[in-house]
Amino acid sequence: MNWLNYSEACARNQGVILARLGPLLPTAGTVLEVGSGSGQHVAHFAAALPHLRWQPTDLAENLPALGANLQRLGNDNINPPLALDVTTTPWPVTSADVIYSANTLHIMGWPEVIAFMQGAGKLLVPGGLLCIYGPFRYQGHYTSPSNAEFDRWLRLRNPRSGIRDFEALNQHTLEFGLELKCDIAMPANNQLIIWRKGKVKGER
Ligand SMILES: C[S@@+](CC[C@H](N)C(=O)[O-])C[C@H]1O[C@@H](n2cnc3c(N)ncnc32)[C@H](O)[C@@H]1O
Repeated sequence: MNWLNYSEACARNQGVILARLGPLLPTAGTVLEVGSGSGQHVAHFAAALPHLRWQPTDLAENLPALGANLQRLGNDNINPPLALDVTTTPWPVTSADVIYSANTLHIMGWPEVIAFMQGAGKLLVPGGLLCIYGPFRYQGHYTSPSNAEFDRWLRLRNPRSGIRDFEALNQHTLEFGLELKCDIAMPANNQLIIWRKGKVKGER
């Protein structure tokens, strides 16, 4: 298919993300994606995991291309995309079992990142998962020289952007009721980090 706003990175990473994320997802429910971009991830995941209902979203200005891509695919477990800016409340959906977002936190400014974590804490059902894919820093260190270079490039382009510190982010997720479940090192110096809202009933 000729994707509008095609992402080479999505084509490269969708398989490895699905392989690690898929087994951790529930057997039923709704997955809200924040910042869907072209929709390549949601299309790939929805085809492989048909028992889940997928809700793509992005800033209003990106919806025409996203909607056109997904309409041409015609997966019946993907809802029409909705406009969602994490800083605008209320969000256009009232609950989700999973929230997924790739390569968004280093694009948003830090206040938007905090608004995102707050919104996720409110929206997720108890036991729901927040799954974030992208590059992170740990204790002030990059995980690779190429990530340090990428961060410099991001900040030159827009001083509000930048690779986020895991510890600062994790402090806010905790504040909004999200506990760290796992942090998985992925290819190309990315991470897949998953937080869970509260504790699942019966779990110790
Ligand atoms: C680098 S793109 C990533 C797109 C896609 N997830 C991917 O992995 O290719 C960053 C995305 O974040 C979205 N975004 C930026 N600021 C946002 C905000 N305040 N609320 C929601 N999405 C936002 C952009 O519109 C864009 O689609």
